[in-house]
Formats: sequence, C-alpha cells, structure tokens
Amino acid sequence: MSTTLSTRMAAVKMSPTTALFGKVEELRRKGEDIVSLNVGEPDFPTPDNIKEAGIRAINENFTKYTTGNGIAPLREAIIEKMKKDNGVTYEMNEVAVTVGAKQALFGALCAVAGEGDEVIIPIPCYVSYPDMVALAGAKPVLVKRKDDFSLDLEAIESAINEHTKAVIICTPDNPTGKVYGEDELKGLSDLAISRDIFVISDEIYEKIIYGENRHKSISAFEGMKDRTIVVNGFSKTYSMTGWRLGYVCGRADVIGAAVKVQSQTTTTPPSISQYAAVEALCGPQDSVELMRSEFEKRRDFVQEKLRGIPGVICHEIQGAFYAFFDIRAFLGKEYEGYGIIDDDTRLCEYLLEKYGVAMMPGSAYFAPGFVRISFASSMEVLKKALSRIESGLKAHKC
Ligand SMILES: Cc1ncc(COP(=O)(O)O)c(C=O)c1O
Repeated sequence: MSTTLSTRMAAVKMSPTTALFGKVEELRRKGEDIVSLNVGEPDFPTPDNIKEAGIRAINENFTKYTTGNGIAPLREAIIEKMKKDNGVTYEMNEVAVTVGAKQALFGALCAVAGEGDEVIIPIPCYVSYPDMVALAGAKPVLVKRKDDFSLDLEAIESAINEHTKAVIICTPDNPTGKVYGEDELKGLSDLAISRDIFVISDEIYEKIIYGENRHKSISAFEGMKDRTIVVNGFSKTYSMTGWRLGYVCGRADVIGAAVKVQSQTTTTPPSISQYAAVEALCGPQDSVELMRSEFEKRRDFVQEKLRGIPGVICHEIQGAFYAFFDIRAFLGKEYEGYGIIDDDTRLCEYLLEKYGVAMMPGSAYFAPGFVRISFASSMEVLKKALSRIESGLKAHKC
C-alpha cells in the first residue's frame, strides 16, 4: 500500500496556459496594468440566436441527462455539417457529442491507444496533446515539423514502428496558424493507409481561416474516412468556450469506445448546450463570418507589426487566432535588471514583469525560441500590446 500519486500522473503536467493565467491574475491584484495575449478563446459574446436557444432549452426543462453520445437532433445536424463542409457522410453511430473538443480528443485517444502504444505528434503542437496521450497510458512521440511548420512526412514515416497507433494533426493549427495544404494531407493519408495507423484530425479552428487558404479535412481522401477520427467543437467557431461542447466523428467502434470513456467520466455532454448547439449549426451563420473577418483584420495588423520589428520572424498566419513568431535573434542579449536572457520562457517573464504583456513561451509548445500570442483581443488592446512588445524587445543592451 502506498499513498503516493500514480506513475501515470507523474507523466502529466498542469497546462502551462493555466499556470500563466494565475500569474497574470496575481500581478493584476497588485495593481499592475497587464495586457494579456495568452488566452485562447474568442473575445466575442456567444451569438444571440444561440444564447436564446439555450434559454429556451432551460424554460422547456431540457435540463437533465441526455443519451451518452448526445441528442439525436444534434448528431443529425453534425452529420449534415460534415457532409456539406468535409464531403464525408457519417451514420448516427459514427458521431458523438462530447464535453468540449478536449473530451473528444481524450476519448479518441483512449479508444485507440493504451499501454505499450505510441502516438506521433508533430511539433510545435497544442499543449494538451502529449499529456492526453500520457493520460491514456500511451507514449507521445514528438516529431519536428519543417521550418515553415508544414508536416515533415519523412520524419513522421521514420518515427512509425509496430507500436504506432495514430498521428495527431491540427489544421488550422494552434499554435502556429498553419493550414495544411492538400498535398501534405494527401501524403499523410497515403502514409496512414500504407502503415495502417489512425489520424486524429483536430479541426476546431476550421472556420477561422484567412485569405486564399481553404480548410481540407484529411477524412475526405479515399480510404481515410474509417481511419480518421475528426475532432471538432463549438468553442471557437461560435464563441462558446464555456458551454463545453464538442464532437467526434469516425468508425463506429472507435466512437463507441470514446462514448464509453465519456459515460464513465462525465456521463453526458451538457443538455442545455446541446440544444443551443443545434441552433448554432442549423441557424444563421452570419456571426461566424463576422467574427472571422474581424479576426482577419487583427491578423493583418499583428502580422505586419511583428514583421516590422527587426529580428522577429513571423510566418504567414493562415488560420486560427495566434501569431507564433521566432525571437531567437533576441536571446543571448542583456536586458536591464535581467542580465543575459537565454531562453523564450525568461524573455516572456521579462516582457510580462517589465512591460506588462503576457504571452506564451514557445517551449510550452515544444518550440524553444518562439513566442505565441493570441489576437483574440480588441484592436485597441493589440495596439498597446504590440507597442510594448516592440519596446521590450528593442531594449537589450548589445
Ligand atoms: C487545438 C485545440 N484543440 C482543442 C481545444 C479544446 O477546445 P474545447 O474548448 O472545445 O475543449 C483547443 C482549445 O484551446 C485547441 O486550441
């Protein structure tokens, strides 16, 4: 008998975004003026038609447990959406509603990977993927992406062995803003088919996409429907982070297993949110475009400003609402009161403490030498933040 924590928990970290959130709150309590660019949620309210559908659900007493895989009208609406947007037709038992996209990811991982299995994660990556793989009992295998953040298919192929069960991709991507092109997705799908592995495709930012870039789901390639597990949700597209609703689509046995995980942990997704989500998918979509176009204006501003700081390298932000930029030119330099700053984490601490701007260090995404900012804030806030970042970066001594 032992009162120590489990060995599985030793492999799991607290989300670094949550940790930074705590530090920002502490500085604000002390009266500091902090501009926060670390939060990954849209700053818009949930659209009125969706809120009203939620209120109606409460008034009509849809306030109880639902079926474990979600209410039928919502799964039907998801099937229609997937047919229209992804060009893939699912049956009712191939779709499940989940408690946020996170529960969809965790359920999918538990469904296909466990003790002795490996899951390949191209890095930089969303902070939670490696920890979720570890929580499922499997081993995360991190594989670097190319310098422009496209997939390094050769490196992925070399990482595949007899233990590999899946590759996780995210497009449009958090943290890099990359949207994978058809060719690289086709390359990955050929690899998945020839090496008989799953692809977990996180498409939660699919509607937040800029310029000529187009979202393509890897599930649409021939032979991929049954080996792709598509994860999506309402948090980003419809600004519904607090409603905690996502969904997962894939082969019936995989979805059945993901639902078992959900049923034994959270029972069902929230009933009120599910009725609101039917309205989100079936009601007018103009708010989606309004938010997207506002994000695009901010993307243009942030990208231009960052590129205007000599030494910063910022690739084209193709989707999502993050800028992920290279600050290696600012490391190894002396900053007043901080001595020589050698890494992105320390540089972020300096910019937070001395210039009052909170950003996520690239190391949190397995990309040391980079910084991630979220532009899900008003233009006014972004202007203030970018000017502080520029002043802070330029303030080194040599
Ligand atoms: C890439 C990615 N996947 C999944 C999630 C989780 O979304 P949800 O709020 O639906 O759980 C996030 C949230 O930041 C994300 O950035």
